[in-house]
Amino acid sequence: MSATGAPIPLAQPDIGPREEELVLEVLRSGMLSLGPMGPRFERAFADWVGVKYAAAVSSGTAGLHLGLVQAGIGPGDEVITSPFSFISSANCVLHAGADVAFAEVDPISFNLDPAAVEAAITPRTKAIVPVHIFGLPCKIEEIRSIADRHGLAIIEDAAEALGAQRQGQMIGTHGSPTIFAFYPNKQMTTGEGGIVTTDDEAVYERILSLRNQGRSDAGAWLEHDRLGWNYRMDDLSAAVGLAQVERLDEILSKRSVVAERYNVLLDAIPGIELPAVVPGDTRSWFVYTVLLEEGVDRNAVIELLAERGVSSKPYLPSIHLQPFYQARGHRPGEFPICEGISARALALPFFGALSEEQQQRVADELAAVLTNPPVVSSTVG
Ligand SMILES: Cc1ncc(COP(=O)(O)O)c(C=O)c1O
Repeated sequence: MSATGAPIPLAQPDIGPREEELVLEVLRSGMLSLGPMGPRFERAFADWVGVKYAAAVSSGTAGLHLGLVQAGIGPGDEVITSPFSFISSANCVLHAGADVAFAEVDPISFNLDPAAVEAAITPRTKAIVPVHIFGLPCKIEEIRSIADRHGLAIIEDAAEALGAQRQGQMIGTHGSPTIFAFYPNKQMTTGEGGIVTTDDEAVYERILSLRNQGRSDAGAWLEHDRLGWNYRMDDLSAAVGLAQVERLDEILSKRSVVAERYNVLLDAIPGIELPAVVPGDTRSWFVYTVLLEEGVDRNAVIELLAERGVSSKPYLPSIHLQPFYQARGHRPGEFPICEGISARALALPFFGALSEEQQQRVADELAAVLTNPPVVSSTVG
């Protein structure tokens, strides 16, 4: 490590006295689950996003799983999703017993290419899970029109996109059940947790039942109408979530300030591409990821940065090239655009409390490492 200061972590949650106050309130109430804090959090979240209903769940993955199950997706069905995402946006399809069909992504936004989605449709296709990756909205209205033409359900994965807007419209309000996630590296956190938003009362009711062991819609405690799970969020997590929603505008704007500073600081460094700007769309800043030049040995860059006290990581690997998916028949070369992004993408330290001085250090160390970058012979991965 260089002598310039303490190591800079990749991510850090933004927790304050209000979170502590509400967690204490729950602890003192004795109602650690199924108390009033859950609905308070859900109401505040739904209002912030601008939807009628929000059902909190134990993780984003749980929310995606229930989103598919409530849409009737099951064995024999195919669901199209992005290979450039976190693994659970594909795994949820398998959890529902259906088959995953990947479609290629757009080289600028890294989101599903609508034309590739349409080309991937087969008679077995029943749903699409579009992902708003790195907080940048996908072309949801184009995907919607494809889905409508083919009679497909949409379950939106907005785990990384809380507060993002597609042409001025908030993600989560485009008419499909939408999942947000709250792991501590996300824009807001509940520790572990997720939430499903919808304007459709029937969808909402099904999610409430499915997350709670399939309990009857009439609310009879030990009556189970369907196969369900325990995917409930506890009230301590909901307390953290409520405090975070109360502070969400402030939390998001701090992240935007940090991202804007990176945009300026890193622009001068040759050999990297900065996150894309799509006119009319508002990115919600989840990670700050740059693309290294083709041929640069990213793992060596990561090691050199680590020696200099700067955390970084490859983000994201292609899902279809994970060992588990290769064992299911996927191979390198299937989605060259996705694989090219995966091979070059490097996530830098990013959180709201990152100081100007820390960002300057990241920029300086990255520039130093890339002055004479380590190279590899092949970049597919
Ligand atoms: C795109 C995407 N989908 C789904 C998830 C799953 O969320 P969780 O980790 O809360 O299960 C995440 C977060 O890790 C994500 O980034």
